[in-house]
Amino acid sequence: QTGRSPGGALLALDQGTTNTKAVLVDATTGAVTAQASSPTSIAFPAPGWVEQDAEQLWTATLTAVERCLEQAPEVRVLGIGISSQRETAVCWSRSTGRALGPALGWQDARTAAWCADLAEREPGAAATIRRRTGLSLDPMFSAPKFRAAIDAASAAGAPLSDIAVGTVDAWLLWRLTGRHVTDLGNASRTLLLDLPSLRWHDELLSLFGIDPVHLPEPCPSDASFGVTTECLGRMPAGVPVLAVLADSHAALYHHGCTVPGTGKATYGTGTSVMSPTADAGGAPHGIATTVAWHVAGRPTYAREGNIVASGSALDWMASTLGVPEGTAGGAYLEALATGVPDSGGACFVPAFSGLGAPYWDRSAVGVLSGVTAGTTRGQLARAALEAVAHQVADVVEAMESDGSTRIGTLHADGGATASGTLMQIQSDLLGRPLDVASSPAASALGAARLAAEQLGVAVPVATPGRHVTPHPCAVDDRRRAWSQAIARSRGLPVSQAHPANSEQT
Ligand code: G3P
Repeated sequence: QTGRSPGGALLALDQGTTNTKAVLVDATTGAVTAQASSPTSIAFPAPGWVEQDAEQLWTATLTAVERCLEQAPEVRVLGIGISSQRETAVCWSRSTGRALGPALGWQDARTAAWCADLAEREPGAAATIRRRTGLSLDPMFSAPKFRAAIDAASAAGAPLSDIAVGTVDAWLLWRLTGRHVTDLGNASRTLLLDLPSLRWHDELLSLFGIDPVHLPEPCPSDASFGVTTECLGRMPAGVPVLAVLADSHAALYHHGCTVPGTGKATYGTGTSVMSPTADAGGAPHGIATTVAWHVAGRPTYAREGNIVASGSALDWMASTLGVPEGTAGGAYLEALATGVPDSGGACFVPAFSGLGAPYWDRSAVGVLSGVTAGTTRGQLARAALEAVAHQVADVVEAMESDGSTRIGTLHADGGATASGTLMQIQSDLLGRPLDVASSPAASALGAARLAAEQLGVAVPVATPGRHVTPHPCAVDDRRRAWSQAIARSRGLPVSQAHPANSEQT
């Protein structure tokens, strides 16, 4: 059926941390014909706590769909593809369908002490988790948040049999189709999925004290997820959900990075660096293995390094330097940074809630080093951009450290790719070219592409907007200064700056 021209469009949703995007993709040409977004809010009620309103994640999705379909009132929606933020834990009542408590955001670290306690109580737990799930025992992942949410809902009087949990894809699917299901890529971010068997695993469930009755059923990314049970704006009920991918994974799919040696970095609130791998295990220290997607009957695994603060670090620096009213923070930093050749020795480590990959050190603290009385705003802006690029370089180096893979050209997408300075620094530090996505909606387009494929429509892979090549320059001193700043952030002697010296695997 490949090449069939069914007419109509695919509706792709990308539910992210800061907004929900809706994108209409013509099912014949693959062209984007309409797009809209609706913002979502985020709350930081206590240090390390990050909450979102699950009901608002849903209403923002409805609003984005409505705004998108208004632009194409005649279009027939043939199917839906979903991409969503990962690890965020939503808890709801099966009987009322309403959220029980706040969604615990992926950046939420309230369960850090619980995780540390588990590691101490069960000395083999971290190694078991790493072996079975490919992930570190870290509060970013969903299982400890599911546990906390179930406990809170139960303490508030909800009967245990009524409590459902899931990542954001499962929440949207519940609202759209009434089914309690999740895709395997999202499921692989929970700490509960056994990578070789692709099932929730008893040993993991028991470590986190989670009864599987609360969990969604893990399904392939191209499974039959059900049909919409109600009208969505102008869209009638009965539209099938054809594809579900985690957002970072959807961007990888959009770039056509489906084999080892290809890879991408998505520069969002944090940054996810991802590259397909042939193995379900054996990733180097500090690097996760994850299910990228399960399509056409088989899983594709990927190595990933998740950086906790990148876009959020740029936002922080922009607002600290004082963005003029009416100017976007990113544009302000870019204008400042282009006015200086380097950071003048200033180094910024944005470990706002510890460090993610490849260090996985929740005790690390934010550091601004090498600052003198002569340090300028431009140099600080540049230090912030360099912090993002150095963190990505740390992850790429760690990912490739066992010699089994090398990413040739790094694909780049996400908001911060608008900074030409950042992209050039990134290419220089990595010593390799970058292909920068032309669309800011890479994740939505990845979900649309997989959905279109279910209708027999072959959507061409993304054409990069910009190709960036590395300048011949010496980067060793900059990398060394960065490593020293990382050591300071972690309270280590500067001689222990390398991730291999981290205690956690
Ligand atoms: O792992 C977290 C990631 O999926 C969040 O993505 O785009 O909402 O920052 P984003």
